[in-house]
Amino acid sequence: MRVIRNPRKLNRILERTSGNRKNIGLVPTMGALHLGHLSLIKQARRENNTVVVSIFVNPAQFGAGEDLKKYPRPLNRDLALCRAAGVDFVFLPNAKIIYPRGYSTFVNVEGLSNLLCGAARPGHFRGVATIVAKLLNIIGPSVLYLGQKDAQQAIIIKRMVEDLNFPVKVKIMPIVRQKDGLALSSRNVYLNKKQRFDALVLSKALSLAKSLFKAGVRDSSRIINRMRQLINRKKQAKIDYLAIVDLEKLEKIKKIDRNCLVALAVKFGNTRLIDNTVINYA
Ligand code: PAF
Repeated sequence: MRVIRNPRKLNRILERTSGNRKNIGLVPTMGALHLGHLSLIKQARRENNTVVVSIFVNPAQFGAGEDLKKYPRPLNRDLALCRAAGVDFVFLPNAKIIYPRGYSTFVNVEGLSNLLCGAARPGHFRGVATIVAKLLNIIGPSVLYLGQKDAQQAIIIKRMVEDLNFPVKVKIMPIVRQKDGLALSSRNVYLNKKQRFDALVLSKALSLAKSLFKAGVRDSSRIINRMRQLINRKKQAKIDYLAIVDLEKLEKIKKIDRNCLVALAVKFGNTRLIDNTVINYA
């Protein structure tokens, strides 16, 4: 496994090793790798000759007052995990090389970026779209692997890839959960014991949504109200949003009459957790 910090160098090496670049799998990450990331890496390993993992805590996607400084950076552990998972290249740039002085080009996927998480985190998805566009240009993968856990991010990136004609296939891999239902996230390390326990209410609320749907409830607000009641039983939980939305446009659905995404963001102390599930209508 090679660790490369310079975009040009990586680009040159990949061109040399992969020829027409038809078989490179890219797993973009901000490090602090967990089993969710490893499931993406495993899939990439199964499907590609060359696997690249990028590790870059992207300042452009953090707002003022967010956790950019304290975001976990267990680099040695991350590199060991990548090595063990059979990664070929880790792209490990720094912020100066990605956003040099005078940097002024950003990608904004309009509309989608202002909804759900975008409402509470203005500029977040502009930062995400920009870094992913840059990674696609630097690495030129044939397949880009993303997690369903960040459902809105995945939808936005898919839109960007289509709109900007990036010659890459986007694969979305399922959410990986701990046995008790908590969705894996690099931010789970911020939770204290009580918050970690209370956060189990999130996957329970999503399961509740699914069982209400199965029992015949189609009215989104009824489902959301029941989810809200459940989550509000946890004193520390502060709901940012609970929503049932269209799978592509992320528009709110009043009556469930097609496949949809049930998505939520809830804060426990300073830690904002997101989770979601897909309801298959058919
Ligand atoms: O999901 C993440 O970790 C990040 O948003 C990504 C896609 C690596 C871009 O920085």
